Amino acid sequence: DKYVVILAGGIGIKFWPFSRHHKPKQFLDLLGTGKSLLQMTYDRFKDAFEPYQFIVVTNKRYLSLVKEQLPQIPENQILVEPLRRNTAASIALASYKIKKLNPNAMVLISPSDQLIFNEQAFFEAIDLAIEGASESGNLVTIGIRPNRADTSYGYIQYFPDNGKQVKKVKTFTEKPDFSLATTFLESGDFVWNSGTFIWKNESIINAFEKYLPEMAEVFEEGEIYFCTEKEHLFLNKAYSLIKNISIDHGILERSDEFFMVLGDFGWSDLGSWQNLYDISDKDNEQNSVKGKALLYDTENCFIQLPQDKLVVIQGLKDYLISDSENVLLICKLGEESKFREYVTDARKID
Ligand code: GDD
Ligand code: MG
Repeated sequence: DKYVVILAGGIGIKFWPFSRHHKPKQFLDLLGTGKSLLQMTYDRFKDAFEPYQFIVVTNKRYLSLVKEQLPQIPENQILVEPLRRNTAASIALASYKIKKLNPNAMVLISPSDQLIFNEQAFFEAIDLAIEGASESGNLVTIGIRPNRADTSYGYIQYFPDNGKQVKKVKTFTEKPDFSLATTFLESGDFVWNSGTFIWKNESIINAFEKYLPEMAEVFEEGEIYFCTEKEHLFLNKAYSLIKNISIDHGILERSDEFFMVLGDFGWSDLGSWQNLYDISDKDNEQNSVKGKALLYDTENCFIQLPQDKLVVIQGLKDYLISDSENVLLICKLGEESKFREYVTDARKID
C-alpha cells in the first residue's frame, strides 16, 4: 500500500505580510485561482491516492485551517504537532504512525508550497522514483535543473550512473551560501532538491535510527500510544524532547542511500515574492497587480492589495508593495537576503 504525506506546518515567512503566523502561505490563494497551495497539493494527488492514503502533518495552530480547506481528509489522518520542530520531526511522526498502520507501505512526502506545471511529467518522475525506492534502504528525491544560484534550496551532485534514471547522490548540500551556490550552478553537475521524497516506510525508519537515533528512540518508545487517546499526551512530551532539524540536514546530507530522479515538469517552490512575481501575469510595463491600482511611469513592480483599496503610484521601479491586514510593506523586489531582518524587526512591534 502507499501513502502520501503532505507537510503543512511551515510558517512561510518569506511572504510576509501576506503570509502570517496565523495563516501561512500554504493556506493562501497566492495565485488567485480560488485554491490555496495546500488544496492544489491535494488536488494533484487525489486521482492517484484514495482519501485514506493521505496524511497531513500540521501544527496545532493550523488544524482548523486544514480541516476547513481539506474536508475530504478523515480527521484521524491529520497529524497535529504541538510545537514546531521542522521537517525531520514531522516526517518521523508520519513514518512511525504509518508503521503502526501498515509497516510495508511505500510513502511519498510532499511539501505544500510548490507549483507543478506538467502533472503528467511529474507522475512519470514519481513512478521512476517508486521503482528506485522499492529497493530496500533507498531514499529517493526528485531533482530539478537549476537556473540560478538560489540559496534557498538543497543542491545535489550525482553519479552519472551510465544513463540509469535513478541516480545515486554523490553530495548533498542544503542551502549553500551564494558563492557556493554559484560554483554549483556553474559546474553544471548539480540539481536542486525538490523536497518531494519517495521511500519505503521501513527505509526512512532505518535512516532515523541511523542518523537521528535520539529522535527515533523517542518515537519508538511512544509507538504504543499511536492511534490511542494517549497519543496527544505522548506528542506533547515527545516534541518537547526532540531536536529542531530539517530532514535535509538531519538525514539526507548524511545518508549513503540517497538517490535522485531528474524531474522536468515545470516547478516552482514559491519561496519568495520574487518567485511569485516571476510566474505572475504582467502588464506591458512588467507590473503585476493584484487589486486596484492606477500606475504612472511605473515599471517592474509587484503590487498586492486588499479588495477595497485603490493605490495610485507614480515613478516607481522594481518595488514590491504588499498591503495586508495591519501591515503595509514597501521594499525593493528581489532583495531577498535582507528581507528576514525586516520581518523580524517588524514582528517585534506588529
Ligand atoms: N508539519 C510541519 N511541521 N511542516 C513543516 C514544518 C514543521 O515544523 N516546517 C516546514 N514544514 C513544511 C512546509 O510547510 C513546506 O511545505 C515543507 O515542509 C518544506 O519546508 P520549507 O520550510 O518550505 O523548506 P524549504 O523550502 O526551506 O527547503 C526544502 O525544500 C526545498 C525545495 O522547495 C528543502 O528540502 C530543500 O532542500 C529544498 O530544495
Ligand atoms: Mg519551501
